[in-house]
Amino acid sequence: MTGAAAIQVPASPAGRARLDAPAHLSDQDFRRIAAILHEDSGIHLSPGKTSLVYSRLAKRLRALGLENFRDYCDLVSSDEGAQERQTMLSALTTNVTHFFREMHHFIDLGQQLRGGWIDRVKAGGRLRIWSAGCSSGEEPYSIAMAVLAAFPDAAKHDVRILATDIDPIIVQKGRNGVYPAKNAESVPPAMRDRFLVRHGQDEVAVSDQVRQLVAFRELNLMAQWPMKGRFDAIFCRNVAIYFEEETQERLWARYAPLLNSDGRLYVGHSERVNDRQFVTAGLTAYRLANGVA
Ligand SMILES: C[S@@+](CC[C@H](N)C(=O)[O-])C[C@H]1O[C@@H](n2cnc3c(N)ncnc32)[C@H](O)[C@@H]1O
Repeated sequence: MTGAAAIQVPASPAGRARLDAPAHLSDQDFRRIAAILHEDSGIHLSPGKTSLVYSRLAKRLRALGLENFRDYCDLVSSDEGAQERQTMLSALTTNVTHFFREMHHFIDLGQQLRGGWIDRVKAGGRLRIWSAGCSSGEEPYSIAMAVLAAFPDAAKHDVRILATDIDPIIVQKGRNGVYPAKNAESVPPAMRDRFLVRHGQDEVAVSDQVRQLVAFRELNLMAQWPMKGRFDAIFCRNVAIYFEEETQERLWARYAPLLNSDGRLYVGHSERVNDRQFVTAGLTAYRLANGVA
């Protein structure tokens, strides 16, 4: 039985009235929630994030019929609260993303593809790109569109894009590949016409050709990684910004042995890779210091 199912919602009008009253989030509750989130995901919540935690979790308390955050903390700390702990993580992660966010990375990717990666694949090699912290899929699908624009025959070759995120709800959204039509506005018009199809009244779906290249998986960047082979490019953008410096440094160090000698690591606009194994290769783009320029 899940924690959610184990909680009884009081049926009496008095109980109902108590539930509707806003629960107070004490400093201690906040610290317990922040500690759990940090342990599970590496995400660091500064004390200034109290109102964010309150607004994102108050509805969970209501849904569960809980009167206060202390009970909620007890629930997510218990074995029977494992499911709710996962729901809490989904509620507290920030999933903001959009198609072709930080366009310069996709331009750079196109240059790398045309500058040698495509020839290597045509000669029997493989192309692997990882979108680490892919959110709802706009990033890996943008990568797939950029690959197909440079290399229309990509699907006939050994080309794969791995899209991973810690949040199973957002991973499923990515797998669905259906978005509000207004989200397509950041897709360059030529690619929009080629790679997106109308879906009902107000939505668009990514075409099968694009989907085919992308595999979505749930993966916590703080845990073990199952991948063995190296990547040509790793996109880890606007993810490490939620981690402390030490956690960021550990992450960069783990990427180095997973990158090909001419590979690229792309990070978010406000992130910097402070690891000697990497040198700058463009705006928030990095390559291995002992690799190929
Ligand atoms: C702001 S989104 C960035 C999405 C995309 N990379 C972009 O730049 O548009 C951050 C994503 O990182 C994910 N994330 C946070 N901590 C994670 C972890 N420990 N392992 C894997 N993904 C994580 C979140 O679930 C969220 O979807």
